[in-house]
Amino acid sequence: MRRRVDKSERKFQAARHQQSSPSPRPKHVHASSQWSWAKIGLVSLLILGATIPFLLYVLSDIDDLSRPSDLGLNHTINFYLKTEEGVRVGVWHTVPEHRWKEAQGKNVEWYEKALGDGSPIFMYLHGNTGNRSAPHRIGVANILSALGYHALVMDYRGFGDSTGEPTEPGLTTDALYLYNWIKKRSGNSLLCVWGHSLGSGVTTNTAVQLLEQGKKFDGIILEGAFLSGRMAADQVFEHPFTWYYWKFPYIQYFLFNQMKNNNLDFPTDKNLEKIRTPIMILHSEDDHIVPMSVAQEIYRIAKKAQNSDERVKLVPFDGKYGYLHNGLYRDPALPNIVREFVQSLTA
Ligand SMILES: *[C@@H]1O[C@H](CO)[C@@H](O)[C@H](O)[C@H]1NC(C)=O
Ligand SMILES: *[C@@H]1O[C@H](CO)[C@@H](O)[C@H](O)[C@H]1NC(C)=O
Repeated sequence: MRRRVDKSERKFQAARHQQSSPSPRPKHVHASSQWSWAKIGLVSLLILGATIPFLLYVLSDIDDLSRPSDLGLNHTINFYLKTEEGVRVGVWHTVPEHRWKEAQGKNVEWYEKALGDGSPIFMYLHGNTGNRSAPHRIGVANILSALGYHALVMDYRGFGDSTGEPTEPGLTTDALYLYNWIKKRSGNSLLCVWGHSLGSGVTTNTAVQLLEQGKKFDGIILEGAFLSGRMAADQVFEHPFTWYYWKFPYIQYFLFNQMKNNNLDFPTDKNLEKIRTPIMILHSEDDHIVPMSVAQEIYRIAKKAQNSDERVKLVPFDGKYGYLHNGLYRDPALPNIVREFVQSLTA
């Protein structure tokens, strides 16, 4: 009760103060307004403390990912797709290198139209951490572009400057959306997918969902692939999306419990039994995150499912080069290997 009186009195005082400025202020009002300023100050500090990390995170995004040309991709455009209500994902589209001069200064419409130029198209589904500007992702985009293909590299929800929270079904939804978005613009061009690391799980999930809709990729490349989400969680990280929750230091505590119950599936082994698309498996023998034996198992399952030596290939890279889990893009033989794979799709 006393509080309410206090408040209305303050309002009244303030109004009076405005009308006739020089009127002296009663002492008790002065004290209470000081107290409320202190409260406002405290609350503001708390709010600032909670939002600054978030703001920094959002602002830093705006800088680096919207200008792919700063990162050596000079025929690339940055754009955003709304893959679901409240989810906006960032995508880079790099056109074939032979069009680089033409591409200078062009807008999104030009790039969208370019997708229909008949060149093969790759969607690149990246691994668990960081964003589309990581050097090994730019490296793959450059290889594809130099071969005369389009490369579309997406940051799934929660990654990079994309909004939303990363979840297994969410990542698949984003990839499906990108597939359909490309298909609307690409005419009869080949549309392939390249999934790296955890992105291999997104790739096979997406391929199976497409099958259920009577659609498919024309070719699949799996690089440093996992066999299942359980394995990814056991082998590498406590939970593949833990990094995400560490960005929000104030809510971690609540989310950790939720994540523990958020089982990961990424059942690449089961998915491979349904997929009938040509697959090429790339793996470095010194991969320190996913051992070579996993690639061999993926190969075995896919070959058996497709009952074909031709449609499923395993390309191991000698451990002496030190490519580990991310470095295959540096191999000078890789462009030819990819070209031959793409050519085999139309043969
Ligand atoms: C993207 O990753 C780079 C490091 O590869 C980092 O410096 C940058 O802040 C990241 N940007 C976003 C928006 O996450
Ligand atoms: C842009 O890319 C093309 C093709 O890769 C290259 O020849 C050219 O030198 C690049 N230009 C700049 C300014 O980086």
